[in-house]
Amino acid sequence: MFGVRYSLALCLLASRVSAWSTYTVPHIDGQDDTPALASALASGKYSSNATIVFAKGTKYNIFTPIKFPVLNNVEVRIEGNLSYPDDIATIQKIVGTSGFPGAWFTFTGGNNVTLRGSQDPDWGWVDGHGQAWWDAVQQTNRPHGWAFSKITNGVIRDMKLWKPIGWNFATSGSKNVHIFNNKIVAVSSFSAGGTDLVFENNHVQNGDDCLTVGSGAKNIVFKNSYCEGGHGLSIGSLGSGGSVADVQDVLIENVVMKDSLYAARFKSWTGGNGLARNITWRNIAFDNVMFPIYVTQNYWDQGVGPRPNSSSINNTHIQDFLFENFVGTINDKPGYVEGSCVSDPCWYAVEGATGKEVAILDLYPNTATDVLVKHVLATTETGSPVRVMCNSSTVTSDVGFKCWDGLFIPTKAGLL
Ligand SMILES: *[C@@H]1O[C@H](CO)[C@@H](O)[C@H](O)[C@H]1NC(C)=O
Ligand SMILES: *[C@@H]1O[C@H](CO)[C@@H](O)[C@H](O)[C@H]1NC(C)=O
Ligand SMILES: *[C@@H]1O[C@H](CO)[C@@H](O)[C@H](O)[C@H]1NC(C)=O
Ligand SMILES: *[C@@H]1O[C@H](CO)[C@@H](O)[C@H](O)[C@H]1NC(C)=O
Ligand SMILES: *[C@@H]1O[C@H](CO)[C@@H](O)[C@H](O)[C@H]1NC(C)=O
Ligand SMILES: *[C@@H]1O[C@H](CO)[C@@H](O)[C@H](O)[C@H]1NC(C)=O
Ligand SMILES: *[C@@H]1O[C@H](CO)[C@@H](O)[C@H](O)[C@H]1NC(C)=O
Repeated sequence: MFGVRYSLALCLLASRVSAWSTYTVPHIDGQDDTPALASALASGKYSSNATIVFAKGTKYNIFTPIKFPVLNNVEVRIEGNLSYPDDIATIQKIVGTSGFPGAWFTFTGGNNVTLRGSQDPDWGWVDGHGQAWWDAVQQTNRPHGWAFSKITNGVIRDMKLWKPIGWNFATSGSKNVHIFNNKIVAVSSFSAGGTDLVFENNHVQNGDDCLTVGSGAKNIVFKNSYCEGGHGLSIGSLGSGGSVADVQDVLIENVVMKDSLYAARFKSWTGGNGLARNITWRNIAFDNVMFPIYVTQNYWDQGVGPRPNSSSINNTHIQDFLFENFVGTINDKPGYVEGSCVSDPCWYAVEGATGKEVAILDLYPNTATDVLVKHVLATTETGSPVRVMCNSSTVTSDVGFKCWDGLFIPTKAGLL
């Protein structure tokens, strides 16, 4: 009697003090765990002021995609291990349907949303079983991993992705998001769209862009991170299919780039439009990188024929690009072929390049202003002199080195 009254009082007190709910995602061995979560989400009880937990000690089967409703004050915690289906055909079939939400894990919007993994080394991994896809060079109907879309005030932390199939975290349409302490052992990684995003202390081992900054991105910071085996810290590609790009205020600093194809990279398509401005890459240490600094306004699908020369064609303008404090070694090993090269010539081959270039500026005339490369200390692995590629009729200011296809000779602006 006494006990019942007492606990009733406690209950009332609890509901007044906080209406926080916690939902632990259930698991049944051998079955898809998505439907149970989906019906809990559909109840609306966990759309605000809630924690949704994938429990430590549980190995979940995420055999079908998860789509979260608009969330407010919600934390999603990945403390157990999560697994995609391990066969390619099952996933391809789902991705190919019209109802596919766009990513295996899709956030559709909201405010104050945290996606948090685990710091326990044995748990909190999301396994995409990507190895089979990579081995098969299978690119049809690859799912994106995590679409953290349209979130204002978000956090992505401590997440750990094991061999995801395709692209990983995307933040399109989001604002004020802090992305830190994440680990990706994978093919590709962070895709920054949105505004006011901070990425820091992330660790990426992959085979594609470590960071991709897309059109619409504004005020992006990516810092204090490590990228290995990928395609660099990239802005773009922008302006594909004649689209109008808009990228502003990006700072990438204190990053180690190891065994990568590129370190700092900008790419926009011939025939595009728009502007990318105020972009800085600084304090970049590179080790065994083929193209440390690579800027092209001429991203061009070689499959469609030779790239156009015409300066009457539009392209994305660039303005205020700074590359500062680049130290490291260039991979110029004779005969070396990067893993993603499946054609001859390779998709990344640059006509006329020797493989010893620390910087390649492949620009159209009158569309690039204030591009500066300064404080560069590079050596090639074979010991041959470091070179650059640059066409002086495409630049109007001192780019920090003698602008020619020849030896790397810093100029005044490059040494200041
Ligand atoms: C969530 O909690 C906040 C206080 O932190 C409260 O103002 C709001 O009404 C709550 N929302 C719901 C749907 O309960
Ligand atoms: C934001 O969400 C967290 C849970 O992730 C919660 O602890 C915090 O109170 C929320 N902030 C506000 C202002 O409601
Ligand atoms: C969780 O997944 C990771 C990656 O697949 C694996 O290395 C780890 O052993 C798994 N944890 C457990 C307890 O099985
Ligand atoms: C350039 O971008 C940085 C952020 O990356 C910002 O702090 C700075 O104010 C911007 N400068 C200009 C001139 O817009
Ligand atoms: C561009 O110019 C070069 C020589 O200057 C020529 O060989 C090439 O065919 C031209 N490409 C196109 C697409 O016009
Ligand atoms: C170049 O851009 C302008 C303005 O956006 C557009 O009107 C024009 O058609 C474009 N020209 C080409 C060749 O795409
Ligand atoms: C340099 O750029 C100008 C202007 O686009 C072009 O006419 C010329 O062919 C280029 N030179 C080389 C060596 O590519």
